[in-house]
Amino acid sequence: MPRISATTILILIAALSFPWVAAQKKSVDAEGHEWWQHAVFYEVYLRSFADSNNDGIGDLKGITSKMRYLHDLGVDAIWITPCFPSPQVDFGYDVSDYENIDPMYGTLADFDHMVAEGKRHGVRIILDFIINHSSDQHKWFLASKSSKTNPYRNWYVWHDGKPGQQPPNNWTSEFGGSAWKFDPTTNQFYYHYFYAEQPDLNWNNPAVEKAMFDVTRWWYKRGVSGFRLDAVDTLFEDPDLRDNPALTGTNKFGDPNTDEKYNKKLPEVHEVLQNLRKVADESNAVLIGETWTKNIDELKQYYGGKNKELQLPMDFMFTRVDKLDPAEFRRQIAAADTSGGWPTYVITNHDIERSYNRYGDGAHNDDIAKVMAALYLTLRGTPIMYYGEEIGMENNNPKRKEDVKDPEGRTGWPKEIGRDGERTPMQWDDTANAGFSTHEPWLPVPPSYKSHNVATESKDPNSVLEFYRKVLALRHTNPVILEGTYTALNEDDNSVVSYLRTYRGKSVLIALNMTTTAQKPSFKLPGGSGLKSLVATEGVSSSGTEVTLPPLGALIAEVQ
Ligand code: NOJ
Ligand code: CA
Repeated sequence: MPRISATTILILIAALSFPWVAAQKKSVDAEGHEWWQHAVFYEVYLRSFADSNNDGIGDLKGITSKMRYLHDLGVDAIWITPCFPSPQVDFGYDVSDYENIDPMYGTLADFDHMVAEGKRHGVRIILDFIINHSSDQHKWFLASKSSKTNPYRNWYVWHDGKPGQQPPNNWTSEFGGSAWKFDPTTNQFYYHYFYAEQPDLNWNNPAVEKAMFDVTRWWYKRGVSGFRLDAVDTLFEDPDLRDNPALTGTNKFGDPNTDEKYNKKLPEVHEVLQNLRKVADESNAVLIGETWTKNIDELKQYYGGKNKELQLPMDFMFTRVDKLDPAEFRRQIAAADTSGGWPTYVITNHDIERSYNRYGDGAHNDDIAKVMAALYLTLRGTPIMYYGEEIGMENNNPKRKEDVKDPEGRTGWPKEIGRDGERTPMQWDDTANAGFSTHEPWLPVPPSYKSHNVATESKDPNSVLEFYRKVLALRHTNPVILEGTYTALNEDDNSVVSYLRTYRGKSVLIALNMTTTAQKPSFKLPGGSGLKSLVATEGVSSSGTEVTLPPLGALIAEVQ
């Protein structure tokens, strides 16, 4: 019988009593890649995914009931938008208690059950961590505002105004108006980059840092596999509160345009991210960043030297491309692929118009959705999907100001209509309210739910959903797609985006027709004389190294 050391026994006892201890073990594949490099992530907009108690709002038990669906689709991890207690001014992005669940979404017991069911189905849980600000109803802020000498005063950013009760400087809120609100209790202003109900935490205060790091530890112990970090570039402000340089014109809220030099992307954020990463590493967890950057050079900074900050800073560059433009996609992919960090591709989320509408031309939207799926799900890197994208869900924008739920849309109407349109209930079937709830949902479903829903599309082999399932299944089984290098092909072709993924002498060709006319590209393939289709849309064929692609046709094929 093999000898079992006292240390092994201790580890075993610890692993049995505290399952997260076992989860901390870091395992890598043959290429040294960790779990988050090959996982498919999927953003669940909690209020709209699945409603278990029929009150019109999605909840945790609803998510738990869909674990099987997520697993069968090919999802390995879900990022759930904020589930913490909140007055819901910004639909959860205003947190009043970081270590609990909002009763409208369930209980901690429901959360634990969801984690356990996720584990059973191979679906990890990623939480949304709102680090820049809390709710103005958080006990820290209530204490902070109560007096200038309260121990929590310095947990937020307070300052005297200018004469005549004017704000301390010209900084404006992302959601319109000054970023400063006067508080009569102490006759000072507090700073809020987002809504006034979301006061900025003062990250220069070590007590804030400690409290927030402890929050992550608390959730890691409950079985969470990582965090999506909200608004990381707004963490620090210039201590001298210098005015931002003025630019010409006004924004959609009518505020003067400024260059946000003194309240965004301050270098101090990187030290915080490095420290947060050290805590994440204790639990083999992943940090995903909401990293809005102009280009890859800016994005690269969030990986940190030697990759010691965020593993997955989101590359939002695709979300700014609003048409099928082969040259632009090639440029973006090449930049991400050579950045030195692991690429993290995103085409849509809860703050921007859905990809179905953005890329869609109104006549071929399903085909375009498939082309986009074949593109970003076969690149070297990690994709983060948005719920409903896989069934071709479209934006359902409010038509009248009085229907708008997102406060930003009410302030900015009609130039800024808010984000309700991309947050509507998941379309599960063609019954009332798309099978989301028997109660009227908090946002209305678009009429297209009759054809674009999980139940109907599951029966149609040519649906958007079945295409996603095939591509995702391939991603999970084909080592070339997971590990291979990326090489752009036919770079002068303005109609077809094509590239090779190559690994250990094997290659896969991806060819995507981005036009509404048929194309017949031919390829110089590595010693190859033919192609074997792995996944293709209807009507695609190949002969030798020549491919026939119908309008908006997509082919993923093994080079033989
Ligand atoms: C980014 C989130 O994605 C958005 O929905 C929210 O309104 C702001 N951060 C403020 O937390
Ligand atoms: Ca509910």
